[in-house]
Order: sequence, then structure tokens, then C-alpha cells
Amino acid sequence: MIYPIYVYGMQVLRKVAQPVPADYPELPQLADDMFKTMYHADGVGLAAPQIGLSIRMFVIDLSVMADEKHPEFKDAKRVFINPEILEVGPETKTQDEGCLSLPGINESVKRSTMVRVKYFDENWNEHEEVFTDFFAKAVQHEYEHLDGKLFIDNISPVRRTMNRSRLHNMQKGKVNCRYNVKTV
Ligand code: NI
Repeated sequence: MIYPIYVYGMQVLRKVAQPVPADYPELPQLADDMFKTMYHADGVGLAAPQIGLSIRMFVIDLSVMADEKHPEFKDAKRVFINPEILEVGPETKTQDEGCLSLPGINESVKRSTMVRVKYFDENWNEHEEVFTDFFAKAVQHEYEHLDGKLFIDNISPVRRTMNRSRLHNMQKGKVNCRYNVKTV
């Protein structure tokens, strides 16, 4: 099933999400539906609060970005449940970012180029993995969703002002986008 994507202004996006309990029903199905929802909106990452579920889970699939320069993205599809960021690298890179919950907004965000993460997959297998470059940035972006943060929290006051009317419209439920959204 494809879920509607919750847009800026919806309270659930600002809540600290709860750990996923071990008996949470049908996690593989939920992960599958999150991927479907994300692909439908042409995204590369989606966190559970973005479909209205305040639980610590997100999915990433960068395989659409795989090319000769980045063959490693071919298998860059992961489900992260109860992730913990164990290490954040000292090097940073500033790159454009967007979010399915903030349609039409793209801004530069500074992120670490390396993170080490412990997480469970949808079958409760535990993993510890190092992510670099674009993958690291995607993990940091999605992880922030679980703490009620959005990437626009990281942009400069000037850039926030530039986006003020767009954000204001979203908060009032005025959103223009191709995929199905849920607004206030
Ligand atoms: Ni996002």
C-alpha cells in the first residue's frame, strides 16, 4: 500500500519517535509499504513519522543513483529499525538536500561524510555498518526525522526567511505536489 506523506505542519514530524517494540506486527510488510510510498514519490529515503507513525524506523534506497562513478549504490537498499549512530566522522561536506515532507524546498546542508550505525532490519537481524558520502548524508537526514527534526532546522536564518511563505503555506495545508500528502 502507498501511504500519504505527512507534510510540514503535521505534529507527528516534530515528535521524538518511540523505539519499535520487538512484537511490532508485520514489520516486513510495513518496510515494503514504506519503500513503495517512497518510490511513488521519487524519494531515496523515508522515515516512519513521514507516514504518521511515531516509531524509530526509516528506509533508504539509493539504487536509482547507481552509475559508473557510484556502482556501490546498486545495493544501497536498507531498512533501519531502532538505529543508533555510534560514530560521526570529523569531515563534512555541504550539499543540496530535499525532503518529501517539504515539497519544493531544496537547501544546502552541512553533513558529516561518515557515520557508523547499529540497527536492526525488518527481520530483527542486527547490523553494524559504516556509511560514507551520500549514503552517510541520507542516514543523518532520516535519523533526524526520528528525533522530530527537519533539514530546514539546519539552514541559515537568511535561507529560512527565503522559504518563509512556502513553509507558511504548507502549515496552512496549501501544498502543490504530485504525490499524495496529508496536511493540517
Ligand atoms: Ni526527509
